[in-house]
Amino acid sequence: MTATSEPAPAPLPRHVAVIMDGNGRWAKQRARPRTLGHRAGARAVNLCIDFCIDRGIEALTLFAFSSENWQRPADEVSALMSLFLRALNRELDELHRRGVRLRFVGDRSSFSPELRNRMATAEALTRTNIGLQLSIAASYGGRWDITQAARRLAEQVRAGSLEPADIDEQLLGRLVSLAELPPPDLFIRTGGDQRISNFLLWQLAYTELYFTEKLWPDLDRATLDAALESFASRERRFGLTGEQLRKAHA
Ligand code: FPP
Repeated sequence: MTATSEPAPAPLPRHVAVIMDGNGRWAKQRARPRTLGHRAGARAVNLCIDFCIDRGIEALTLFAFSSENWQRPADEVSALMSLFLRALNRELDELHRRGVRLRFVGDRSSFSPELRNRMATAEALTRTNIGLQLSIAASYGGRWDITQAARRLAEQVRAGSLEPADIDEQLLGRLVSLAELPPPDLFIRTGGDQRISNFLLWQLAYTELYFTEKLWPDLDRATLDAALESFASRERRFGLTGEQLRKAHA
């Protein structure tokens, strides 16, 4: 009898992290205000979530608003805040029904009490959901994240519960955002720029990077499939040699 072996399924990222760039240019191409681009961007967020659920991706992290975005014109910031609140009010029940767990990462202190309350409610409501682990990075910066983790370690040292010599990567890694999730396997940035822009600096250490010219509001399933296909073709060595990896998997 001849043994038939099925081709191994293409490796799928467990965690995808996305910089959703290009809303402003999308609006400009149409001679419309930037805020219209953000509204169209919110529709692309839904498409991306649906795609990840359909494909069985465990975790999706979206960069919605950076620490630096507070410096944008006041009317754009305020339109984005209203958009976040409306999107949360509109989508929360449906996300919960689909088993999505929502987390928000970033410095919430500058958000309005209303938005902070809605974030806390959404997190509490979906806390035990085991479907897509959806994280929204808002008022987030990778440097802020590492700094807040370092500050918490310093507080433990001051309290006498930690020796500086015991601080290692694992300990600090447990205090950065999203520590409870596997680190992102795949990073996608739309809009054509090829940079990380202070996103998950610690967490992206060994993430595969994928850049596309597509503007975020134009996102479609074909673009996301192309990113997954590119990911499946990469050899992830994590600092080892290709030879070592092949031996480990033999
Ligand atoms: C970057 O494009 C996008 C943002 C700063 C905002 C992202 C917000 C959304 C996609 C809207 C909805 C989000 C949620 C989570 C409901 P840009 O404005 O920098 O575009 P540009 O580079 O073309 O100017």
